Amino acid sequence: MKHISILASGNGTNAENIIRYFSNEKNAKVTLVLSNKPQAKVLERAASLGVDAFFFDRAQFYETGEVLMMLRRRETDLVVLAGFLWLVPGDVIEAFPGRIVNIHPALLPRFGGKGMYGDRVHSAVLEAGCTESGITIHFVNEHYDSGDIIFQARCPVLPGDDVDTLASRVHALEYEHYPRVIGEVLIGAGNRQ
Ligand code: GAR
Repeated sequence: MKHISILASGNGTNAENIIRYFSNEKNAKVTLVLSNKPQAKVLERAASLGVDAFFFDRAQFYETGEVLMMLRRRETDLVVLAGFLWLVPGDVIEAFPGRIVNIHPALLPRFGGKGMYGDRVHSAVLEAGCTESGITIHFVNEHYDSGDIIFQARCPVLPGDDVDTLASRVHALEYEHYPRVIGEVLIGAGNRQ
């Protein structure tokens, strides 16, 4: 069985959706959820679904290597970022080559980079007057939102959209596609070992 570990900073609706999806799969499960925010809703969501969920701080991620140790101890096959806002350090990237994925709520390479997350992304898309937006699932490297793109899906930006209406259309795409793409990457990750 393959082990998925999720890193998330916030609400965790994607994390919950991924946990539920893989709870029905035989070959892979989410076995660990880690958050850099002690009060993040994602920790509650994971725990209530029976998945081990822990907070970690900046030192444990960037200095002491404790997060990397936790990922290794769980025999993590794939690290999934789901609304995770910190840059992933080099030792973690090196430990999981081609085995860390992220989802971004817009069509990269536009509207990515430091500080571009969640509603800020949707605001920027609306301000730019785009007629479409979407999601980008990509491999993670040491820079924000710039790893190789695995999958994109598009949705319209409609007249009268605000951040909330656009966010909910983009979230629907995330829920539809992210678990399936994770499953496909896991199969690829298996082949690389
Ligand atoms: C998602 O829309 C995800 O694409 C975005 O944060 C949201 C998290 O929602 N990620 C980024 O913006 C990363 N740059 P969730 O906590 O409800 O899953």
